[in-house]
Amino acid sequence: MTTGLSREFAYRDKKLGDTEAITVATAADVFYPTSTTMLLLRAARRGLVQRPRALLDLGCGCGIVAIVLAKCVEPDVHVCASDLSAAAVRLARYNARRQGVRIDCQRGSLFEPWVGRRFDLIVDDVAGVAEPLARVSGWYPRSVPSDAGRDGTRWVLSVLDAAPDYLAPAGRLVFPVLTLSREAPVLARARARFSAVELVEEQWYPLTEELLAHVALVEELVADGSIHLEKRGTRWCWATRIYAASGRVRT
Ligand SMILES: C[S@@+](CC[C@H](N)C(=O)[O-])C[C@H]1O[C@@H](n2cnc3c(N)ncnc32)[C@H](O)[C@@H]1O
Repeated sequence: MTTGLSREFAYRDKKLGDTEAITVATAADVFYPTSTTMLLLRAARRGLVQRPRALLDLGCGCGIVAIVLAKCVEPDVHVCASDLSAAAVRLARYNARRQGVRIDCQRGSLFEPWVGRRFDLIVDDVAGVAEPLARVSGWYPRSVPSDAGRDGTRWVLSVLDAAPDYLAPAGRLVFPVLTLSREAPVLARARARFSAVELVEEQWYPLTEELLAHVALVEELVADGSIHLEKRGTRWCWATRIYAASGRVRT
C-alpha cells in the first residue's frame, strides 16, 4: 500500500455493535484522532435521522467519523467524506476499504467537492483551534492543514454560512467548538443561520504539556479573547463542546 500508513489507531466505541473495536491506519501527515473525535461520534450517532439518504464527514482526516457512521446505517446510504489534505483523503479511502465500507472520499476545501448535494447529517470537524496554538499543540504538525486564524473561527464560520445550502430539509449539522478558539461569534453565527442550536456534549481537559510549554502565548491569546480557559481545582482547563444545529433561518 502507499507509504506513510505507519501507526495504527485503535478506536473503541462501546455503543457501536458489541463493543466492536475499529482500527484505522494513521499517518504522520494526517490529523491523529483525539478525544474530540469520540465526542463528535457520540453526537453524530444521536443526530442520525431515521432512514438517512446521505451523510457527510467534513474535514475527515483518516476517515474515522465517516467509517463509524457508515457502519451505523444501511449500506445504500451515501456516506461522503472530504478534506483539504490529499494525504487525508488517500488515507480515508484506504481505511474505508479495509473496513469494508463504501465512502465517497473527495479532496477540497470545505464544501467545494459537494456543490449541489444535500445531506441529512453533516459532521463538521474542519480545523478550529487558534492557529498559533494549533501549531505548538502537537495536534497540527506542519503537514496537516489548519490555518483557522488567530482565534480559530475562520473555517467554522464559513461552514455555518454554507451548511444550510447543503442540508436536506430536516438535516442537522454537528460541529465542535473548542474553547481554544473564540466561541461567542461561532455561536452567534450558528444562531443566525439555524433556528435550533443545541449543546450536546461537553468535556473539559487540563492544558497539555505542549501547551504549558508555551504559557506566554496562551496568556496572550486569553488576554485578547481568542481563547478561553477556566481554573478547575489547581489546573487551567479548556473545553470541547459539541453542538447540533438544525432548521434553516430564512434571511
Ligand atoms: C480536527 S481534524 C479532524 C480529523 C478527523 N475528523 C478526526 O477526528 O480525526 C481537522 C481536519 O480538517 C482538515 N482541514 C483543514 N482545513 C480544511 C479546509 N479548509 N477544508 C477541509 N478540510 C480542512 C485537516 O486536514 C484535518 O484533517
